[in-house]
Amino acid sequence: MLEFLSKYKRTHTCNDLDIKCLNEEVILMGWVQSVRNHGNIYFVNLRDRYGITQIIIKSINSDAMNEEEKNLKIKNEWCIGIRGIVESRITNGGASNLNLKTGEIEVNACEIVIFSQSTTPPFLIENTINSNEETRLINRVIDLRRPVMQANLILRHKIMQIVRNYLDKNNFLELETPFLIKHTPGGSRNFIVPSRNKAGFFYALAESPQLFKQLLMIAGFDKYFQIVKCFRDEDLRGDRQPEFTQIDIEMSFVNEAQIQSISEDIIKTIFDQLFNIQLKTPFQQIDYTDSIDRFGTDKPDVRFNLEHINLTEIFKSFTEVDLPIFSQILSNDGIIKAIHISETNKLSRNDLDIIGKFAKQFEENSEIYSIKVTKNGSDWKQSFLRKIIPNKLIKIINQHCNAHDNDTVLIMAGKKKLVNSAMSALRLYLGEKFNLIPKEVWKILWVNNFPLFEQSDDVEIYTSIHHPFTAPQVKDIEYLDTDPSKCKARAYDLVINGNEIAGGSIRNHDVKIQSKIFDILAISNHEKESKFGFFLNALRYGPPPHGGIAFGLDRLCMLLSKSNTIRDTIAFPKSNNGIDLLSGAPSVIESKHLTELNLCVMDNKKL
Ligand code: AMO
Repeated sequence: MLEFLSKYKRTHTCNDLDIKCLNEEVILMGWVQSVRNHGNIYFVNLRDRYGITQIIIKSINSDAMNEEEKNLKIKNEWCIGIRGIVESRITNGGASNLNLKTGEIEVNACEIVIFSQSTTPPFLIENTINSNEETRLINRVIDLRRPVMQANLILRHKIMQIVRNYLDKNNFLELETPFLIKHTPGGSRNFIVPSRNKAGFFYALAESPQLFKQLLMIAGFDKYFQIVKCFRDEDLRGDRQPEFTQIDIEMSFVNEAQIQSISEDIIKTIFDQLFNIQLKTPFQQIDYTDSIDRFGTDKPDVRFNLEHINLTEIFKSFTEVDLPIFSQILSNDGIIKAIHISETNKLSRNDLDIIGKFAKQFEENSEIYSIKVTKNGSDWKQSFLRKIIPNKLIKIINQHCNAHDNDTVLIMAGKKKLVNSAMSALRLYLGEKFNLIPKEVWKILWVNNFPLFEQSDDVEIYTSIHHPFTAPQVKDIEYLDTDPSKCKARAYDLVINGNEIAGGSIRNHDVKIQSKIFDILAISNHEKESKFGFFLNALRYGPPPHGGIAFGLDRLCMLLSKSNTIRDTIAFPKSNNGIDLLSGAPSVIESKHLTELNLCVMDNKKL
């Protein structure tokens, strides 16, 4: 076997050869995709990352094989090398395969070497397989041999190269920042790493290079980027991983428009170089408030309509009859929203049942009511609401929704966050169900004017919507002292087809404003000093105005490869429960290692 490699060097990949290469002697190496045995002739499809070439093996005897190998029949996924002559399939009495670039030729093997044998793989190396994701993740190496997975990772590589080249050409420096950092409050939950040298002390794994990229600006590097791993211990979903990759960017002496323009150029270059698609810039812009009002979310999919219709003001101004359910919701700052479905989009009994239970995924007692419009748009049927809402209001609602006979109106009332989340998910569900979402269209938009802070429904504590280093809009700085809830942020998110692909902001380079924001976030003076002292201190040394953005590389790859989850664009991802099913991480560690780290595990049973 080693003799083969010392005698020969691979001359071509499995996607190189065509009719122009007839009679050439070639050396190919790869994996056996399939074997057909016609008497004593084997037809082997040899695969590598580039493609497939058909090999004919007229006799399994080869000088390069030992006796044992000669008696073995070549099987799928064996790794082999061959020396052979390129021949025409037609001349050999076969047929061309127009689906393959190499489909007109075959290689007549005169020497074969078996580098290694393979046990039967758990699933076929094909694009469409029946295996569930767990089996695929456990057998990731085999999964990664599938052409679709290879294409995804190749696409990922190309995106990284395009971005690197673009940023390098535009004077950005690729600078690294630490992963093992100080644990700071706020933001997502960090993974914690115990220090062996300092008993009882811990590092945190960086959730992003945020503070360090700002420090690099203060240090005068002007334009920074990094394609960098980030670590977040948060609940996972199809578009979230505990370790993921960002294309992270920071610039000095810029405003929002300049950062957005560079970001647009990056996305434009990727689309151009990958797909020869020329995107129109500047991208569409939408106000955060408008986005929440019309779509219930700050990452709207604007490829289809079915927009939310806000009925809150209509209910508020209807004072003729008391409507206890609604007035109670409204007095608690709740909202009422509708979605109008025209008669052409049919809803079966089963669909109505699903819609009836839809909101319960978000809160047990919540409900989305479906109403059939009747009597020239002046009445409703099939709804409990018909009994409690007076005719006059029914007519006003129908008019407002532009709903006619046999159309359906879906209504939900409740707390703002709940109604927006449930109705936003319902809009997407209906969009898919009615086939309203064009799959080949790219709708890219900026969401601007986010609030700087949010308060949860029950607790009156402010948290940052982006992160605490985001600057308030200049016109709103006074609200920091009076009513922080009114403060808008100099932040922006980039949304592609309903996915948040990037987020960024202009930062606080004024140490007083930064300090005030920490106060609003209820970070005590002691904590400010102990956790952020190094950063506040740097802000005292002539920081430049600066801002930046970070793109989620995995999400971008997911979109561009049209994958259903980001796991399909990461070579070795974690499962939905944060587990590496391939290697079995996380795992228990031996007590001697715990002792070394000054740790002990609490006995769960005693907790
Ligand atoms: P943010 O937290 O918005 O901003 O993250 C930027 C982008 O990273 C992607 N992303 C994720 N992708 C996969 N799995 C995750 N768990 C995950 N979390 C986020 C998203 C998101 O838009 N430091 C700031 C950026 C800045 O202000 O410059 C930051 O990290 O696509």
